[in-house]
Amino acid sequence: MIQSTSGDGFLAALPQLSSLDVNNRRVLVRVDFNVPLRPDGTVRDDTRIRAALPTIKALRDRGARLILASHLGRPKGAVTPELTLEPVGAKLAELLECEVRLPDEVVGDAVRKLVLDTRAGQIVLLENLRFHPGEKANDPEFAAALANLCDLYVNDAFGTCHRAHASVVGVPERVHERAPGLLLERELKALGRVVQNPEHPFVAVVGGAKVSDKLTVLLAVIQRLKQGDSLLIGGAMANTFLAAQGVKVGASLHEGDRLSDCRTVIRRAEARGVNVELPVDLRLGADLKGSLSRTIVVEPDTALDADEMALDIGPDTVGRFASRIRAAKMLFWNGPMGLFENPAFARGTLGVAEAVAACPGFTVIGGGDSVAAVRENGLAERVDHISTGGGASLEMIEGKTLPGVAALLSR
Ligand code: 3PG
Repeated sequence: MIQSTSGDGFLAALPQLSSLDVNNRRVLVRVDFNVPLRPDGTVRDDTRIRAALPTIKALRDRGARLILASHLGRPKGAVTPELTLEPVGAKLAELLECEVRLPDEVVGDAVRKLVLDTRAGQIVLLENLRFHPGEKANDPEFAAALANLCDLYVNDAFGTCHRAHASVVGVPERVHERAPGLLLERELKALGRVVQNPEHPFVAVVGGAKVSDKLTVLLAVIQRLKQGDSLLIGGAMANTFLAAQGVKVGASLHEGDRLSDCRTVIRRAEARGVNVELPVDLRLGADLKGSLSRTIVVEPDTALDADEMALDIGPDTVGRFASRIRAAKMLFWNGPMGLFENPAFARGTLGVAEAVAACPGFTVIGGGDSVAAVRENGLAERVDHISTGGGASLEMIEGKTLPGVAALLSR
């Protein structure tokens, strides 16, 4: 059993996309086209589609008959019209400037016929895999039906590699000729470097809503930190940390049952000589859609009014975080520093994004919201690696085995 899906040794053990003989052969590529849609059903953010283009183009140029497969949302095994991959197919066709054929079903006779009719260089995009209950259940019959569509299998869906679903593990178990796609390889290299060869000072920036979602990753990261490294905590989860220190957080989002977990994180980090930075000032509001009401300095006896919410880190906190970030030789960031979708509370996240972009060390960002903050502000080019995976990148950072990657090696 493979213990970790990171590290150069592991990558070296994987077959290479370039070594596959794909000419005029049916290649099923598992992609992660789980993208945000607009209310009118069109694609709001095509980052994940663009990220899969190098693999798709490389295979197309080498004469593969391409079958792309993805999930979209969580339709719970039932056909859900608003989660059809049609808009994704349209966006892909626009980006590739070629036809993308989309059958009405995921598997079945009509799909098989369409796939058999597909010629070298043509592209079929299967309908949303999760319309079929067999996908999440890794049902052997469903996996076999997908495997029977193809001669070779390529996994380029890094964002889904932590899910042991049929298209992620069941198909590669049945298709002997297989390889990671170029995106998956890039993700494994960058995140593998962070896990296997951390450089110090290492700075971990963690935000987002809940301590409970990030506790295991926080504890795992701390195990790899050393004297002089830093753990910077922002976002609503910082409210729980502040509450654990006795601050009265008013109506702020926080988890009252996680205070002792927060104390454990701080105790373990400090025992290793890690600098733990919590917000020293906060931007407050009374309404998630409203404006800033005031900025306060955080003291041990600080008490927010009962109807006040902490919605962003304040300017002094940004300054302190930025000075730690400036000194980092390696940095990993997951989760926004505040309610950044409301411009009144976006400054903290933007300030951290700017500091990360200016950091001379090796910088990696994982997770949808922090990635969006960097992209929306034109800073993406200045970050070494922006992961397309949220949960998958966190599981890698935790040091876990990603089932989708392990399946590429299984015999
Ligand atoms: C993601 O967006 O993180 C991946 O596409 C996986 O989606 P899931 O959390 O619904 O499995």
